Amino acid sequence: MLQGKRIVLGVTGGVAAYKAAVLTRLLLAAGAEVQVALSEAAAGFVSPMTFQALSGKPIMTRLEDARVDNGMPHITLSRAADALLIAPATAHFLARAAQGLADDLLTALALARACPLLVAPAMNRQMWEHPATRRNVAQLRADGVTVLGPCSGLQACGEEGEGRMLEPEMLVKALVAFFAPKVLAGEKLLLTAGPTFEAIDPVRGLTNLSSGRMGFALAEAAANAGASVTLIAGPVAQPTPFGVERIDVVSAREMRVAVLERVAEADVFVSVAAVADYRPAQAAGRKIKKDAEGLPMLELLPNPDILAEVAALPQPPFCVGFAAESENLETYAQAKRRRKKLPLIVGNLIQDGFGGVSNRVILFDDAGAHPLPFADKATLARQIVDNIAQRLARNQGKEPA
Ligand code: C5P
Repeated sequence: MLQGKRIVLGVTGGVAAYKAAVLTRLLLAAGAEVQVALSEAAAGFVSPMTFQALSGKPIMTRLEDARVDNGMPHITLSRAADALLIAPATAHFLARAAQGLADDLLTALALARACPLLVAPAMNRQMWEHPATRRNVAQLRADGVTVLGPCSGLQACGEEGEGRMLEPEMLVKALVAFFAPKVLAGEKLLLTAGPTFEAIDPVRGLTNLSSGRMGFALAEAAANAGASVTLIAGPVAQPTPFGVERIDVVSAREMRVAVLERVAEADVFVSVAAVADYRPAQAAGRKIKKDAEGLPMLELLPNPDILAEVAALPQPPFCVGFAAESENLETYAQAKRRRKKLPLIVGNLIQDGFGGVSNRVILFDDAGAHPLPFADKATLARQIVDNIAQRLARNQGKEPA
């Protein structure tokens, strides 16, 4: 996800410095090249040797360093970098960076950099809320610095509140989002994902094996591409993607209401959910007993077709459907696309991807079939997002971004 990206990771002296070691590993695992620079205070929290062993590179801690050809790491390091990430960034660092001070390696790096600066603040909640810190953060934002977090929770000092550094996994996701081309900037996307659950009684129901992975991956890719994304999710165990608004629903009818409430603002509707086709005519209010009441008879009613209803609106958003089939993919998917009046449908064979982490999909439109190579769902999501962006640009008479 960060293949070939060169990251200078600056670590300042806060307790969260220990998490920067995990962050180093995750950045490397994501394909980035990582050069670590520590403030002298950070080197008191975590040994430079830890970072050297993890990153495989000598660690810089001082303004003058004979290991760099010109002796000036604050210049050299950022010249070859795609981003300078300071994590954790203490209140003291933010204050000095906001002032343009350059009294140690990390502040000098920030001032002399030739690449974007991202900071992940970490401090006690009172320090974060202090008007001085608020001013400094506002100044940094005004200067074009990207501020990642902080989040809320239990702090090392024992207090609870906002000021915790984002977890290393979230910081990696934030970096991926930062680098993604903003092909959907300004667009509003509404998505559905996961299965629906149609209650039979309070503990039983009709559902399916959709994992929600494809829909969640698409929501994440769209948010990374600059769209404002609302994801309406059936019952799934997926974490909410970075920067995505999530609304949880259970049944198809709840999903329909959630979609119709928001669709007027949407530029694009991507219907990934495996909506149950039928629901029990009546859900029992109490658990149906196995023995006493004999074999239960289930009367079924058809569920509303949410996608077809949205596509039939007088001014529909750009609608994208999904079709999972066991056979005759092209025939069935194209028939579905025409019946529901969709410009685009993404088809796959159930045996290739349903419930799994990878998939083989084919995009079907008026011009025919456009297969994408077999890939993990995050990769497919980025390609589908790019494809949707190109279609939107064509519809709006613009050159694709
Ligand atoms: O008709 P079928 O279920 O095969 O169509 C699949 C597409 O229609 C998917 O995009 C799915 O999200 C959407 N759909 C829907 N409401 C339904 C059934 C399917 O939005 N009740």
